[in-house]
Amino acid sequence: MAEPNLKMDFKGQHILSAKQFDKKGLLVLFEEAKKMEKVFANGESDILKGKILASLFFEPSTRTRFSFEISMLRLGGKVVSNFDMLRTSSLKKFETLYDTGKCISQMVDVIVMRHPDASAVTKLAQGSDVPVISAGEGAEEHPTQALLDLYTIWKEKGGFDGLTIGMVGDLKYSRVQHSQCELLKHFDVKFIFVSSPGLKMPDGIVMTLSGHNVTIGEHVDDFVPEMDVISVSRVQSERFPSEEEYKKYAGTFVINEDVMKRAKKDALLLHPLPRVDEIAFDVDIDPRAKYFEQIKNGVAVRMALLKLILG
Ligand code: NCD
Repeated sequence: MAEPNLKMDFKGQHILSAKQFDKKGLLVLFEEAKKMEKVFANGESDILKGKILASLFFEPSTRTRFSFEISMLRLGGKVVSNFDMLRTSSLKKFETLYDTGKCISQMVDVIVMRHPDASAVTKLAQGSDVPVISAGEGAEEHPTQALLDLYTIWKEKGGFDGLTIGMVGDLKYSRVQHSQCELLKHFDVKFIFVSSPGLKMPDGIVMTLSGHNVTIGEHVDDFVPEMDVISVSRVQSERFPSEEEYKKYAGTFVINEDVMKRAKKDALLLHPLPRVDEIAFDVDIDPRAKYFEQIKNGVAVRMALLKLILG
Protein backbone atom coordinates (compact mmCIF):
# COMPACT_ATOMS: atom_id res chain seq x y z
CA MET A 1 0.00 0.00 0.00
CA ALA A 2 1.42 3.40 -0.97
CA GLU A 3 2.33 5.95 1.70
CA PRO A 4 -0.26 8.71 2.15
CA ASN A 5 -0.19 11.26 -0.61
CA LEU A 6 0.02 14.95 0.04
CA LYS A 7 -1.97 15.69 -3.10
CA MET A 8 -5.26 14.18 -2.18
CA ASP A 9 -6.36 11.49 -4.57
CA PHE A 10 -8.86 9.55 -2.51
CA LYS A 11 -9.11 6.22 -4.29
CA GLY A 12 -7.37 3.44 -2.37
CA GLN A 13 -5.68 5.87 0.05
CA HIS A 14 -5.15 5.57 3.78
CA ILE A 15 -6.49 8.57 5.72
CA LEU A 16 -4.07 8.95 8.61
CA SER A 17 -3.64 12.70 8.93
CA ALA A 18 -5.34 16.00 8.15
CA LYS A 19 -1.98 16.94 6.58
CA GLN A 20 -2.92 14.83 3.54
CA PHE A 21 -5.65 17.28 2.51
CA ASP A 22 -5.24 20.34 0.38
CA LYS A 23 -7.87 22.95 -0.47
CA LYS A 24 -8.97 21.13 -3.59
CA GLY A 25 -9.31 17.78 -1.83
CA LEU A 26 -11.42 19.38 0.90
CA LEU A 27 -13.81 20.91 -1.59
CA VAL A 28 -14.15 17.63 -3.53
CA LEU A 29 -15.02 15.91 -0.25
CA PHE A 30 -17.51 18.59 0.84
CA GLU A 31 -19.36 18.56 -2.50
CA GLU A 32 -19.62 14.78 -2.22
CA ALA A 33 -20.83 15.07 1.40
CA LYS A 34 -23.61 17.39 0.25
CA LYS A 35 -24.81 14.64 -2.09
CA MET A 36 -24.47 12.08 0.70
CA GLU A 37 -26.80 14.12 2.91
CA LYS A 38 -29.57 13.26 0.46
CA VAL A 39 -28.66 9.55 0.49
CA PHE A 40 -28.64 9.67 4.29
CA ALA A 41 -32.06 11.37 4.32
CA ASN A 42 -33.44 8.69 1.98
CA GLY A 43 -32.29 5.97 4.39
CA GLU A 44 -29.96 3.81 2.34
CA SER A 45 -28.35 3.04 -1.01
CA ASP A 46 -26.31 0.30 -2.67
CA ILE A 47 -23.28 2.42 -3.56
CA LEU A 48 -20.91 0.17 -1.54
CA LYS A 49 -22.88 -3.05 -1.78
CA GLY A 50 -20.60 -6.06 -1.29
CA LYS A 51 -17.91 -4.05 0.59
CA ILE A 52 -17.03 -4.72 4.23
CA LEU A 53 -15.62 -2.29 6.80
CA ALA A 54 -13.76 -3.49 9.91
CA SER A 55 -13.83 -1.07 12.82
CA LEU A 56 -11.07 -1.62 15.36
CA PHE A 57 -11.33 0.49 18.49
CA PHE A 58 -8.63 0.45 21.16
CA GLU A 59 -10.19 3.44 22.98
CA PRO A 60 -13.72 4.38 24.06
CA SER A 61 -15.99 5.95 21.44
CA THR A 62 -19.66 6.81 21.17
CA ARG A 63 -20.10 8.97 18.08
CA THR A 64 -17.12 8.19 15.89
CA ARG A 65 -17.51 4.41 15.75
CA PHE A 66 -21.26 4.57 15.18
CA SER A 67 -20.76 7.33 12.63
CA PHE A 68 -18.36 5.22 10.53
CA GLU A 69 -20.42 2.07 10.88
CA ILE A 70 -23.70 3.82 10.08
CA SER A 71 -22.06 5.53 7.09
CA MET A 72 -21.04 2.13 5.71
CA LEU A 73 -24.51 0.67 6.34
CA ARG A 74 -26.26 3.64 4.69
CA LEU A 75 -24.07 3.04 1.63
CA GLY A 76 -25.22 -0.58 1.47
CA GLY A 77 -21.94 -2.03 2.82
CA LYS A 78 -21.45 -4.31 5.81
CA VAL A 79 -19.54 -3.88 9.07
CA VAL A 80 -17.54 -6.05 11.47
CA SER A 81 -16.65 -4.36 14.69
CA ASN A 82 -14.39 -4.87 17.70
CA PHE A 83 -14.65 -2.07 20.24
CA ASP A 84 -12.43 -3.75 22.84
CA MET A 85 -9.32 -4.49 20.77
CA LEU A 86 -6.91 -3.71 23.60
CA ARG A 87 -8.28 -6.60 25.66
CA THR A 88 -9.64 -9.10 23.15
CA SER A 89 -7.44 -9.07 20.03
CA SER A 90 -4.29 -11.11 19.30
CA LEU A 91 -2.22 -8.07 20.27
CA LYS A 92 -2.71 -9.55 23.75
CA LYS A 93 -0.62 -12.48 22.45
CA PHE A 94 2.06 -10.00 21.34
CA GLU A 95 1.05 -9.93 17.69
CA THR A 96 2.41 -6.77 16.05
CA LEU A 97 0.11 -4.05 14.72
CA TYR A 98 1.72 -4.68 11.32
CA ASP A 99 0.58 -8.32 11.34
CA THR A 100 -2.87 -7.42 12.66
CA GLY A 101 -3.25 -4.99 9.74
CA LYS A 102 -1.92 -7.54 7.23
CA CYS A 103 -4.31 -10.27 8.43
CA ILE A 104 -7.51 -8.24 8.77
CA SER A 105 -6.91 -6.63 5.38
CA GLN A 106 -7.08 -10.07 3.73
CA MET A 107 -10.76 -10.24 4.71
CA VAL A 108 -12.23 -6.74 4.40
CA ASP A 109 -12.20 -3.74 2.04
CA VAL A 110 -11.46 -0.90 4.49
CA ILE A 111 -10.34 -0.58 8.12
CA VAL A 112 -11.24 2.18 10.60
CA MET A 113 -9.09 2.34 13.70
CA ARG A 114 -8.74 4.38 16.92
CA HIS A 115 -5.80 3.95 19.28
CA PRO A 116 -4.38 5.83 22.30
CA ASP A 117 -0.76 5.72 21.07
CA ALA A 118 0.85 8.06 18.57
CA SER A 119 1.65 6.30 15.27
CA ALA A 120 -0.21 3.05 16.19
CA VAL A 121 -2.69 3.57 13.33
CA THR A 122 0.21 4.23 10.97
CA LYS A 123 1.90 0.97 12.06
CA LEU A 124 -1.24 -1.04 11.33
CA ALA A 125 -1.65 0.76 8.00
CA GLN A 126 1.89 -0.24 7.01
CA GLY A 127 0.82 -3.88 7.17
CA SER A 128 -2.59 -3.39 5.61
CA ASP A 129 -3.35 -4.20 1.97
CA VAL A 130 -6.57 -2.13 2.12
CA PRO A 131 -7.14 1.53 3.06
CA VAL A 132 -6.97 2.39 6.77
CA ILE A 133 -8.81 5.43 8.14
CA SER A 134 -7.76 6.94 11.46
CA ALA A 135 -10.60 7.47 13.90
CA GLY A 136 -8.24 9.21 16.35
CA GLU A 137 -4.62 8.54 17.26
CA GLY A 138 -3.35 9.49 20.72
CA ALA A 139 -3.30 13.23 21.32
CA GLU A 140 -1.95 13.75 17.82
CA GLU A 141 -4.69 13.72 15.22
CA HIS A 142 -8.35 13.01 14.53
CA PRO A 143 -8.62 13.85 10.85
CA THR A 144 -12.23 12.85 10.16
CA GLN A 145 -13.59 14.83 13.13
CA ALA A 146 -11.78 17.92 11.82
CA LEU A 147 -13.19 17.24 8.34
CA LEU A 148 -16.74 17.21 9.67
CA ASP A 149 -16.05 20.33 11.74
CA LEU A 150 -14.86 22.17 8.63
CA TYR A 151 -17.80 20.83 6.63
CA THR A 152 -20.10 22.34 9.26
CA ILE A 153 -18.34 25.72 8.95
CA TRP A 154 -18.40 25.50 5.13
CA LYS A 155 -22.13 24.79 5.09
CA GLU A 156 -22.95 27.57 7.55
CA LYS A 157 -20.57 30.24 6.29
CA GLY A 158 -20.13 29.30 2.64
CA GLY A 159 -16.34 29.18 2.97
CA PHE A 160 -13.44 30.01 5.28
CA ASP A 161 -11.57 33.06 4.02
CA GLY A 162 -11.84 36.08 6.31
CA LEU A 163 -13.04 34.10 9.33
CA THR A 164 -11.61 34.39 12.83
CA ILE A 165 -11.36 30.90 14.30
CA GLY A 166 -11.29 30.67 18.09
CA MET A 167 -10.06 27.48 19.72
CA VAL A 168 -10.82 27.15 23.41
CA GLY A 169 -10.01 24.43 25.94
CA ASP A 170 -7.33 21.76 26.07
CA LEU A 171 -5.29 22.82 23.08
CA LYS A 172 -2.31 20.74 24.21
CA TYR A 173 -4.01 17.35 24.09
CA SER A 174 -7.02 17.88 21.79
CA ARG A 175 -6.26 15.81 18.69
CA VAL A 176 -9.37 17.34 17.14
CA GLN A 177 -8.10 20.92 17.38
CA HIS A 178 -4.66 19.83 16.14
CA SER A 179 -6.25 18.37 13.01
CA GLN A 180 -8.49 21.44 12.62
CA CYS A 181 -5.35 23.63 12.45
CA GLU A 182 -3.84 21.38 9.76
CA LEU A 183 -6.94 21.83 7.59
CA LEU A 184 -7.65 25.50 8.29
CA LYS A 185 -4.09 26.59 7.50
CA HIS A 186 -4.99 26.33 3.79
CA PHE A 187 -7.34 29.30 4.12
CA ASP A 188 -7.06 32.99 4.89
CA VAL A 189 -8.20 32.74 8.51
CA LYS A 190 -7.13 34.32 11.81
CA PHE A 191 -6.56 32.03 14.78
CA ILE A 192 -7.23 32.86 18.44
CA PHE A 193 -6.06 30.16 20.87
CA VAL A 194 -7.47 30.44 24.41
CA SER A 195 -6.33 28.04 27.13
CA SER A 196 -4.66 27.77 30.51
CA PRO A 197 -0.91 28.35 30.11
CA GLY A 198 -0.32 24.63 30.83
CA LEU A 199 -2.63 23.54 27.99
CA LYS A 200 -1.35 25.74 25.16
CA MET A 201 -1.37 24.74 21.49
CA PRO A 202 1.94 22.89 20.86
CA ASP A 203 4.67 25.12 19.37
CA GLY A 204 5.10 22.73 16.43
CA ILE A 205 1.51 23.36 15.33
CA VAL A 206 1.69 27.14 15.87
CA MET A 207 4.80 27.12 13.66
CA THR A 208 2.91 25.46 10.81
CA LEU A 209 0.51 28.43 10.89
CA SER A 210 3.20 30.95 9.98
CA GLY A 211 1.76 33.52 7.60
CA HIS A 212 -1.47 33.57 9.60
CA ASN A 213 -2.42 36.02 12.30
CA VAL A 214 -2.27 33.97 15.54
CA THR A 215 -3.32 35.39 18.93
CA ILE A 216 -2.75 33.45 22.15
CA GLY A 217 -4.77 34.25 25.28
CA GLU A 218 -6.00 32.88 28.58
CA HIS A 219 -9.48 34.30 29.14
CA VAL A 220 -12.30 33.43 26.79
CA ASP A 221 -14.28 36.57 27.72
CA ASP A 222 -11.53 38.78 26.31
CA PHE A 223 -11.67 37.21 22.86
CA VAL A 224 -15.12 35.72 22.30
CA PRO A 225 -16.59 38.88 20.65
CA GLU A 226 -14.05 38.54 17.80
CA MET A 227 -14.64 34.86 17.03
CA ASP A 228 -16.69 33.69 14.02
CA VAL A 229 -16.13 30.10 15.09
CA ILE A 230 -15.74 29.02 18.72
CA SER A 231 -14.26 25.53 18.67
CA VAL A 232 -14.31 24.08 22.19
CA SER A 233 -12.57 20.98 23.54
CA ARG A 234 -12.94 19.01 26.76
CA VAL A 235 -9.97 18.80 29.12
CA GLN A 236 -8.66 15.43 27.91
CA SER A 237 -8.48 13.63 31.29
CA GLU A 238 -7.07 10.42 29.81
CA ARG A 239 -3.96 12.13 28.39
CA PHE A 240 -2.61 13.61 31.64
CA PRO A 241 0.34 11.95 33.39
CA SER A 242 -1.65 11.83 36.67
CA GLU A 243 -5.12 12.53 38.05
CA GLU A 244 -3.58 15.25 40.21
CA GLU A 245 -2.29 17.02 37.12
CA TYR A 246 -5.71 16.73 35.40
CA LYS A 247 -7.48 18.18 38.44
CA LYS A 248 -5.44 21.38 38.11
CA TYR A 249 -7.29 22.11 34.87
CA ALA A 250 -10.69 20.41 35.28
CA GLY A 251 -13.54 22.92 35.25
CA THR A 252 -11.31 25.92 34.56
CA PHE A 253 -13.55 27.37 31.84
CA VAL A 254 -17.20 27.15 30.91
CA ILE A 255 -19.10 28.44 27.87
CA ASN A 256 -22.45 29.51 29.31
CA GLU A 257 -25.24 31.92 28.35
CA ASP A 258 -23.25 34.88 29.69
CA VAL A 259 -20.28 34.07 27.47
CA MET A 260 -22.60 33.55 24.48
CA LYS A 261 -24.17 36.98 25.08
CA ARG A 262 -20.78 38.45 24.21
CA ALA A 263 -20.34 36.30 21.08
CA LYS A 264 -21.21 37.41 17.52
CA LYS A 265 -24.85 36.96 16.49
CA ASP A 266 -23.76 34.59 13.71
CA ALA A 267 -20.93 32.82 15.54
CA LEU A 268 -20.75 29.01 15.37
CA LEU A 269 -20.16 27.08 18.57
CA LEU A 270 -18.53 23.72 17.80
CA HIS A 271 -17.61 20.79 20.06
CA PRO A 272 -16.76 17.21 19.01
CA LEU A 273 -18.35 15.91 22.23
CA PRO A 274 -18.33 14.30 24.76
CA ARG A 275 -18.60 17.35 27.00
CA VAL A 276 -17.92 17.37 30.70
CA ASP A 277 -18.76 20.84 31.97
CA GLU A 278 -17.13 23.14 29.41
CA ILE A 279 -20.43 23.98 27.69
CA ALA A 280 -23.42 24.61 29.97
CA PHE A 281 -26.60 22.72 29.07
CA ASP A 282 -28.60 25.93 28.76
CA VAL A 283 -26.51 26.86 25.70
CA ASP A 284 -27.91 23.85 23.76
CA ILE A 285 -30.99 25.78 22.64
CA ASP A 286 -28.89 28.68 21.31
CA PRO A 287 -29.11 28.48 17.49
CA ARG A 288 -25.37 29.15 17.34
CA ALA A 289 -24.68 25.83 19.11
CA LYS A 290 -23.92 23.38 16.29
CA TYR A 291 -22.60 20.35 18.17
CA PHE A 292 -25.59 18.11 17.54
CA GLU A 293 -25.79 19.10 13.88
CA GLN A 294 -22.09 18.26 13.62
CA ILE A 295 -22.99 14.63 14.33
CA LYS A 296 -25.31 14.44 11.30
CA ASN A 297 -22.74 16.23 9.18
CA GLY A 298 -20.23 13.62 10.35
CA VAL A 299 -22.23 10.80 8.77
CA ALA A 300 -22.41 12.68 5.45
CA VAL A 301 -18.66 13.40 5.49
CA ARG A 302 -17.72 9.82 6.38
CA MET A 303 -20.11 8.45 3.72
CA ALA A 304 -18.40 10.73 1.20
CA LEU A 305 -14.95 9.62 2.33
CA LEU A 306 -15.80 5.92 2.15
CA LYS A 307 -17.38 6.38 -1.28
CA LEU A 308 -14.36 8.26 -2.65
CA ILE A 309 -11.82 5.83 -1.15
CA LEU A 310 -13.60 2.64 -2.19
CA GLY A 311 -14.63 4.06 -5.54
C1 NCD B 1 -13.09 13.45 20.41
C2 NCD B 1 -11.96 12.43 20.47
O1 NCD B 1 -12.21 11.24 20.67
O2 NCD B 1 -10.85 12.87 20.32
N1 NCD B 1 -14.38 12.92 20.36
C3 NCD B 1 -14.94 12.47 19.20
O3 NCD B 1 -14.31 11.81 18.40
N2 NCD B 1 -16.22 12.84 18.95
C4 NCD B 1 -12.93 14.50 21.44
C5 NCD B 1 -12.92 14.11 22.89
O4 NCD B 1 -12.91 12.93 23.24
O5 NCD B 1 -12.91 15.03 23.69
